[in-house]
Amino acid sequence: MKLNLRIWRQKSADTPGAMTTYEVDGISSDMSFLEMLDTLNEDLILRGEEPVAFDHDCREGICGACSLVINGDAHGPERTTTCQLHMRSFRDGDTIDVEPWRAAAFPVVKDLVVDRSAFDRIIQAGGYISAPTGSAPDAHATPVPKPDADFAFEHAECIGCGACVAACPNGSAMLFTSAKVNHLNVLPQGAPERETRVLDMVRAMDDEGFGGCTLTGECATACPKGIPLPSIAAMNKEWLRATRKVRR
Ligand code: SF4
Ligand code: FES
Repeated sequence: MKLNLRIWRQKSADTPGAMTTYEVDGISSDMSFLEMLDTLNEDLILRGEEPVAFDHDCREGICGACSLVINGDAHGPERTTTCQLHMRSFRDGDTIDVEPWRAAAFPVVKDLVVDRSAFDRIIQAGGYISAPTGSAPDAHATPVPKPDADFAFEHAECIGCGACVAACPNGSAMLFTSAKVNHLNVLPQGAPERETRVLDMVRAMDDEGFGGCTLTGECATACPKGIPLPSIAAMNKEWLRATRKVRR
């Protein structure tokens, strides 16, 4: 395949960026999108040009590091992570726009790399449990009703990629925060911090400058792990419950 790439290039957070056009040839439809970018970077290095900076780590859909807006969609045309997107989703001769996440709370560091440490600070505010659970078999011995275990597991699938924020017209982090709150709040191990967790994590989210949620649903549509929109309602319920309990 031969492709025209229009890629956002930006030297640093303080310098203006612009779309730059590149041509890549010899792309196999079996390559992942990141392998296609690797091919471009090898060409750029051989030509003595600066390679394109982009985030990646596991390349297995686990870590959430890969974060690209491809033709206007967070993670591109398939509902998966960028590292699991393959070039068979494109056609020979296509022009593909590649941009970083666009959100006020995710400032561009360089080219396609953004600073997602705001997510880390939301996690630090309450994404932990203090209950001693011992080793893995001990933790497993705590009885958890099957519906609660399923609910927790569904939300634990969030990989913190930030596609929900990038897809949201408001730049809201409600889907991410709800996944992290719901995952722990439903479990007996998460009960000691149930109220403080939701209050502190929502406060941290607001402090980081994410936008408000107007339930457009773009977040859930873009989420590669299928975190559902009702997760936000479940977190709001937890927040109201905690607010009332703390006031009493
Ligand atoms: S909720 Fe989905 S889109 Fe948002 S950070 Fe988690 S996995 Fe990524
Ligand atoms: S590189 Fe880890 S999820 Fe894509």
